[in-house]
Parts: sequence; structure tokens; C-alpha cells
Amino acid sequence: MAQFNETELTAAVVKSFEQTPNPRAKFLLQELVKSLHDYVRRTDLTFAEWEYAIDFLTRTGQKCSDIRQEFILLSDVLGVSMLVDAVNHRDRDGATETTVLGPFYVGEHKVTPHGTDISAKLEGERMFVQSRVTDLAGRPLANVPVDVWHADGDGFYDSQKPSFATEGASSRARFITDADGRFFFRTILPCSYPIPTDGPVGEMIMQTRRHPMRPAHVHFLVNAPGYEPLITHVFIGGDKYLDSDVVFGVKDELVAQVETRSDAAMPDGTKATGPWHLMTYDFHLKPGEGLAPKPLGAKVAEPA
Ligand code: BEZ
Ligand code: FE
Repeated sequence: MAQFNETELTAAVVKSFEQTPNPRAKFLLQELVKSLHDYVRRTDLTFAEWEYAIDFLTRTGQKCSDIRQEFILLSDVLGVSMLVDAVNHRDRDGATETTVLGPFYVGEHKVTPHGTDISAKLEGERMFVQSRVTDLAGRPLANVPVDVWHADGDGFYDSQKPSFATEGASSRARFITDADGRFFFRTILPCSYPIPTDGPVGEMIMQTRRHPMRPAHVHFLVNAPGYEPLITHVFIGGDKYLDSDVVFGVKDELVAQVETRSDAAMPDGTKATGPWHLMTYDFHLKPGEGLAPKPLGAKVAEPA
């Protein structure tokens, strides 16, 4: 009869995965067992703490739906998402920096004409966003789908609001780059916002006296065939949370100095009704493979 002490148990569980056909799956499972067992030994984990953890993870799963991913949020606030991002993007070679996808990429972004106000129904300071997608040599990449999404002036994504089901997307669209790699649109200036605090992850953040804020940003997902998918944000320069993002997602290169303008018209000729903001930020893609990840639990349109 097999009987194990604390360390023999780890070796036995590791060995139990020895016949796993996929070598990578075998490696990942064995390393996971080693790290988990090590954690239990180092912390002298009690039964009550183990039960708390099981309950926490159960509630995390129960909070997930087609339009909410509490596990991604957990990964984000524990810095795991940014660590996965870091180990997978070690050599940028001048390509635009990457950051977390976040839980609000729900897919189904609708192709939208350049210049559209994607926040037309929302109150807020108006902003014009102009951008160009190029390769590492600065050559334009035409016909590339770029998904864009950001929070409203109260810090909520459209998918967090009950109206999403009936009214559809807001502050969320797909643009296709023109022959010169350009795309542009109008929207509102996003503000800093808290991650959702009405679930187990938010509960953890509040109970541990962390703050739940993310600095203001716009999300971009650029998906060009023959290039690495680019999942990133552009942050609004000057935001007070740039140094303490709850998901550790800020990189200096991703902070844009958004200008305040008083010109009567925006760059595409749209008449301004008052002062407005101009965000200019270009994306440089690295040759590579792969489609950007689809949001879990959600359907997403394939790139054109
Ligand atoms: C976001 O930027 O939308 C986000 C990212 C990570 C966690 C929560 C929100
Ligand atoms: Fe966001």
C-alpha cells in the first residue's frame, strides 16, 4: 500500500502524470503540482484556509457569463496576465508594446466607417483619435481590422450595462485601415475607472486595502495576417493612476499625451462644438503568426 510523507506525496503526484501523451501538458501539470504543493508546505495551509480558497474559486466561476470573465479579472489583479504577456513578448524589436486584454472584450465588433462618433449617445468631452498601423519599417499595413473599446464617462463598459442587450455596442467598434494604414474616429475622453467590485475579485481587492482603479485608456486589438496580433491600450497621459494600475498594465510607451484643442474643426472636417481632445498614436506590428485570442464565452467576428 502506497503511503507518503509530505515530500514523497509531491513526487508521487508528479509521477502520476508520467504517461500524459502531450509533453507540454505533462510539463505544465507536473510543474503546477510542484508549485501548489510547495505553497501548501510553505504556508502550513489550514483546512479553513483551503476551504475559503475553494469557495472563493467557486464564486469566481459562478460570476462568469457570456459577457463577464471573473477568472480573467482574477488573473489580472494577481499580475498573472501581465506576466504571461511579458514572457511571451520578450523581444519587441520596435513593435508596439502589449498589455492585458481585460474582461470587456466581448467580440462582435461591427465594422464602422472612419470618422464615426462611436460614443454619439454619451455625454463627455469629445475626442478625435487618429492612428496608423505599420510594419516595423514604417510601411503602412492596409485593410487591417482594428477593434477599439473603452469605458464611458462614468467608468462603465457598454457590456456592463443592462442596455447592452437591447441597444447594442457603444464606445466599441472595428475599423479597417485604409491604403495608407490609417484609421480615425470620434469618441469621448475616457476616465479612470474601478474594475468591477461586485464579485469575489473586487471583494479581495477591497478587503486587502488595495484600490480598484485603472488609469483612463482606450483598448486596441490589431489583427493583421502575417503579423503578431497586437493587444494593447493607449493610456491618457497625466492620469493619476498611471503609477498604480490595479492590473499592473501600464507601460511608458503606451502613454499618449492627449492634446486639448480649440480649433473649429477636427482633422476630418467635423465641426467642433467646443474644446476637444486629440489622441494621436501609431501601432507598429511585428511579423508573426496567430489570431488574437477570442474572448472566452463570447462569439467574435473573424478578421476580414
Ligand atoms: C480593462 O481595461 O477593461 C480591464 C482590464 C483588466 C481588468 C479589468 C478591466
Ligand atoms: Fe479597460
